[in-house]
Amino acid sequence: MTESGSQPISRPDSQADRFYLTTPIYYVNARPHLGHAYSTIVCDAIARRKRALGIETWFLTGTDEHGQKIERSAKLAGCSPQEFATKIAGEFRGLWDLLGITNDDFIRTTEERHKRGVQKLFATLRDRGYIYKGSYTGQYCVSDEAYVDGPPGTLCPDCGRPTETVSEENYFFKLSAFERKLLEFYEANPGFMGPESTRREVISFVRSGLKDLSVSRTSFSWGIPVPGDEKHVVYVWLDALANYITALGYGSDDDERFRKFWPADIHLIGKEISRFHCVYWPAFLMAAGIPVPRSVRANGWLLFDQGKMSKSRGNIVRAETVHTVLGSDALRYFLLREIPFGQDGNFSFDALVQRYNGDLANGYGNLVSRVVNMVHKYFEGVVPAFWGGYPVDEYPDEHSLRSRAEFTILSFESTFDDPQSEYYLSFSKALVDLWLFVAQTDGYLTANAPWKKPPERSDADHAALQARVLTTAAEAIRVITALAYPIVPDAAAKVWRQLGQGELADAAKKGFLKDLAWGGLKVGTKFGEPAPLFPRAEKEAIERMQSLEDDNNRTVVEAASNGEVNAAKTLPAPAPAAAQVKAAGTQAPAPAAKPAAPVAANATTEPVAPTALKGHDFSRAEYAEKTSGALAPEVSSPSPAVNAPSATPAETPAAATEERTHITIDDFAKVDLRVAQILVAERVPKADKLLRLEVDLGYEKRQILAGIAQYYEPEKLIGRKIVIVANLAPRKMRGLESNGMLLAASLEDGAPVLASFLEEVPLGARLK
Ligand code: MSP
Repeated sequence: MTESGSQPISRPDSQADRFYLTTPIYYVNARPHLGHAYSTIVCDAIARRKRALGIETWFLTGTDEHGQKIERSAKLAGCSPQEFATKIAGEFRGLWDLLGITNDDFIRTTEERHKRGVQKLFATLRDRGYIYKGSYTGQYCVSDEAYVDGPPGTLCPDCGRPTETVSEENYFFKLSAFERKLLEFYEANPGFMGPESTRREVISFVRSGLKDLSVSRTSFSWGIPVPGDEKHVVYVWLDALANYITALGYGSDDDERFRKFWPADIHLIGKEISRFHCVYWPAFLMAAGIPVPRSVRANGWLLFDQGKMSKSRGNIVRAETVHTVLGSDALRYFLLREIPFGQDGNFSFDALVQRYNGDLANGYGNLVSRVVNMVHKYFEGVVPAFWGGYPVDEYPDEHSLRSRAEFTILSFESTFDDPQSEYYLSFSKALVDLWLFVAQTDGYLTANAPWKKPPERSDADHAALQARVLTTAAEAIRVITALAYPIVPDAAAKVWRQLGQGELADAAKKGFLKDLAWGGLKVGTKFGEPAPLFPRAEKEAIERMQSLEDDNNRTVVEAASNGEVNAAKTLPAPAPAAAQVKAAGTQAPAPAAKPAAPVAANATTEPVAPTALKGHDFSRAEYAEKTSGALAPEVSSPSPAVNAPSATPAETPAAATEERTHITIDDFAKVDLRVAQILVAERVPKADKLLRLEVDLGYEKRQILAGIAQYYEPEKLIGRKIVIVANLAPRKMRGLESNGMLLAASLEDGAPVLASFLEEVPLGARLK
């Protein structure tokens, strides 16, 4: 192993016959959803194409298993962090198998090979003088595992969640020493990061000045011990980023793969983690004397119901659902076609089914079926003639299809293979081009109508036309299928067989795409049997997907109420019976485990896990994560968990109640309570218990949904000053977003009484 430039540590830039690409490694505090599948599918499409071009490819994905967030989630689930991580990592692996993802390796940061590599990297940075000991007092966002500038009470600028004050003796990395070097590096390597918005953001972040970075923690232990000082664990982002080299063998006796594949060609990441990948990671590597990756590319977010799809928002869709109803090709095609890479994009079942029917079933699928069936019908399934040799003047349509094929091949090269191209990673554009080719081929068939013999055409002429048209169309399908293979591999494999080309997987291994050119279909090739590719999806497909998601959400709630120790399914304990003040809104309530905070849950109806920990200090964000999918009772669909006997506060052990009544002032400071005035109040159609309120905080106006319709006439609320929890993550209910939660006392019969003031108070005033 080499740290400095004395020996070649990695392949030279010119070595275009190898390609190394990575997804982010996924936190194991959340079960996989479509947002995670998106990055993985994009990488898989690239990896498949590279292999099919004969390039030796290494595709890495994995799970990020250390850190406070995971430690807390595991505690909450009542199991060890290792058990917890193993379960969720298994779900990620299982999903990738189900979706046919072709990753070459799957790294877990709790593996020995990774620990060794991280310790080696840490020691190297220290030995080279880039790590020193100091102390840190400041704010930390547990959800993002990131340090945040600002006084106590500062919200995380990235996710908006409350930060926690940490005060620790730490090891620091001399990030400040890399400010100039990084800027010079970005300047010299304009292709290093993309898209442009990411590049601008990162550069402006570095220009605004880099402070040294705390790279160890002592306040929790779920991490990799700092070599030689084991009461510290390595900062989770240094730990996580290192996966890209430890998985290749960095830090082990066998680092051959590291030498072969490093530096990575692409780290594909979500846009919110670009600072870690474009600033910290290259700085760590530069400091350690290791070459930096060739490029970091950020995808945008997959949105659902207008918000980033995430567990904490409770708006996730699972990839399994789409796979079950429409197959994974449909999902892959939709994600790459619908979302311009680098931008945020909406996911909806409607749009998915529309694309599926329009482009896959009626477009590509129908074209293949027409041509394969006609070759069987008119030529007993044998390719009758070579397409070529037609003079351009006489056969402009054939020549035009050939040009279209050549153009589309180039389009795919610029999207997939040419980092200098303005269309690099513009998957959507490449697919638009490819489907124009599908449409042109379809139009060509229709215009020439080989199934219809006009009376004036001789039999011989008609047979010649049929041979020419069907062979030309079949050749077009061959090229289309070869290009489409990385995106819709299952369908492409079926078509390949139908075209008599054999097993596509074998062809891919042999690098068949390298030689892709018009004219490859051989005379005499025997076609395979026609087989359906994309059966048309009826309206029920949408209902089925929706109902699969509903079932899943219900299962999560049931599992919780049954007290299953089930990582990422388990919900926190109910608020104790003693709670006097409850949330009148329908937001996920504040942590039940912190009843002294003035936002305790309505304990009688909240689904709970009896196994949840006592006295554990949950952040609200964490609570929201745990409760995603389980709407508060006012608006949830009936769930067996609601009113489940085991969930009643009466059964909460008294000791647990007592223990949970103490919180620190820091805990309380996390709840942003503000005075607001109700401007608009109205009932929500088809939701008996729900009012939609618009409130004025002085500094902003916002909408809140509150489950108080049975107790308050909306008109009487207008103008009233109330107290709201202002920093609660937004949540959607009945299609409406709720941004905050009202405070109310809870009477015995469950009736709420809104908190209010005797004196005049300005809007926006904070309750402390
Ligand atoms: N563990 C870190 C990454 C460490 S990489 C050395 C992490 N994990 S994560 O699970 O929170 O997110 C992993 C990736 O999934 C991120 O790139 C993130 O952007 C992506 N996505 C999670 N939800 C997403 C959407 N709704 N849409 C698109 N991508 C999303 O960050």
